[in-house]
Amino acid sequence: MAWKHLFERKTLEMLNEEVQGQQSLHRVLGPVSLTSLGVGAIIGAGIFAMTGRVAANDAGPAVVLSFALAGVACVFAALCYSEFAAMAPVAGSAYTYTYATLGEVWAWIIGWDLILEYAMACGVVAAHWTHYLNVALQTLFGIEIPPVLTSDPFTPVMVGGHAVQAFVNLPAILIMLATTVVLVIGIRESATTNAVLVVVKLAVVLLVIGLGVSYVSMDNWTGVPVERRKDVDVGDYLRRHPDVAAKIPDGAYTGLKTGQNLLDAHPAIAEGMSENEKTSFGNLPNEAKKWGMLAVLGIKSWLEPVDEAVRSPFMPYGFSGIMVGAALVFFAYVGFDSISTHAEEAVNPQRDVPLAILGSLILCTVLYMLVAGVITGMEQYPDIDPKAAVAEAFRKQAVIQKSWLLNSLAGLIAIGALAGMTSVILVTFLSQSRVFLAMARDGLLPKQVFAAVHPKYRTPYRSTILTGLVIALVSGFTPIRMLEEMVSIGTLMAFVLVCGSVLVLRIRRPEVHRPFRCPALFLVAPAGIFVNLALMFFLPLDTWMRLVVWLALGMMIYLAYGMRSSVLRTRASELA
Ligand code: ALA
Repeated sequence: MAWKHLFERKTLEMLNEEVQGQQSLHRVLGPVSLTSLGVGAIIGAGIFAMTGRVAANDAGPAVVLSFALAGVACVFAALCYSEFAAMAPVAGSAYTYTYATLGEVWAWIIGWDLILEYAMACGVVAAHWTHYLNVALQTLFGIEIPPVLTSDPFTPVMVGGHAVQAFVNLPAILIMLATTVVLVIGIRESATTNAVLVVVKLAVVLLVIGLGVSYVSMDNWTGVPVERRKDVDVGDYLRRHPDVAAKIPDGAYTGLKTGQNLLDAHPAIAEGMSENEKTSFGNLPNEAKKWGMLAVLGIKSWLEPVDEAVRSPFMPYGFSGIMVGAALVFFAYVGFDSISTHAEEAVNPQRDVPLAILGSLILCTVLYMLVAGVITGMEQYPDIDPKAAVAEAFRKQAVIQKSWLLNSLAGLIAIGALAGMTSVILVTFLSQSRVFLAMARDGLLPKQVFAAVHPKYRTPYRSTILTGLVIALVSGFTPIRMLEEMVSIGTLMAFVLVCGSVLVLRIRRPEVHRPFRCPALFLVAPAGIFVNLALMFFLPLDTWMRLVVWLALGMMIYLAYGMRSSVLRTRASELA
């Protein structure tokens, strides 16, 4: 086996030739459809479900800044994506770009990594979909889904202040299966369905901003005492509860086993605590999660003083809170790049793809900052609902104002959020099957499954069905928080590689015609690499370890299958 082939690259000319072939997809998407695909993929669980949790636990009202920062990281990557997407309008996105710049093995790595971004993101959104379905059913019809059917078996559901063990997230599985059926039927139908869903969710987001602003109180942004913030770890709790700290024997921490908390090891510390206090204390991590890998690398001690210096009612969790918040709400932007996976179906890709990518990203950043500002302005951040914050904010107002109208609006918002999340699942899933298609065409995945285009519907139907079934299982049974962080780290890594690839290609092939040139690429690409890497470093060590395991698994598959059946390699051996 010739190892030099690992870094074999496809030429841009080869990429463009490929789309002329028999199995190419229909070119039916115009600028509006493409932008709508972008917005369809972007606005979803991130804003509707994660904003509340990040505001309450990680960033406070400064979650607005987290959104701004994550948006900036994405704009850098988007500019790079746009240059590439316009130059090589084929299915496959970052995977294809990497194939043309860094070579096959890197392309495989990024393709495998994109499964985290697309397929896993679908799973996460489907899992959050359930929470809004529950709010909609409760608000409009007074019906509640049995709690044991609303969460994965690893994430307990709180019922009347008690944690209940769930079996499965059933609605998540059902929405995934329904989406699979829609996608097998075809892109044109999917684009129409998507456009309707996008209109509904934009209307709801604008309603939230327009109506919510009248309930905003400045005090909620700047008047909540810093002491009200939630404890980020055991150390934080003990600093604020010196009476409990006094009960801790010397060396108690060093004697802890992995995964064991202080109360398990020293039950005497819990004397005088209520059951609720014990549970929340027990759930606090021993190590500050908020510094992520920076704690592991020992950099956190340099940055901790910055945290203290900027801590205020608006930034109760300090600088690190804003950064961790940005790494988490980054999820809300995942999907803008899916426009580039549809470049092969665009009528005028060179003009419309960059336009749609940047347009949808800028629009969503502005909307996110406004929604986050409204939600944190409507109630004090520690009280924000961590699951369905947007609808719950209005439901609480309805109770305060004794207004049935507000209550109905909360129901309407929940339905809009459901529409929003459905469109995210639809588009992100669509992107996943396009990436698989590109990988299969190159021989890195089995063609019979991943490149088989349906004779009538012209969709990659086998791959769609297989992927749909797998994501359905993942969304029903996997711990949601873990999945979210995997999506974020996987996407951040993809962005770093795309910024790097575009830079490499500018240096290696400066003469190639670029219908869209990223302005100041030699500043934008390094800045994109830096900001996206920085956000990755705020994610915890266990997420990094999972990423490494995932990539190692991918590498094994490549060595066992892709490397041997690669079309590029076979062609090279025939020519030799
Ligand atoms: N950006 C998508 C969402 O927030 C994944 O749901």
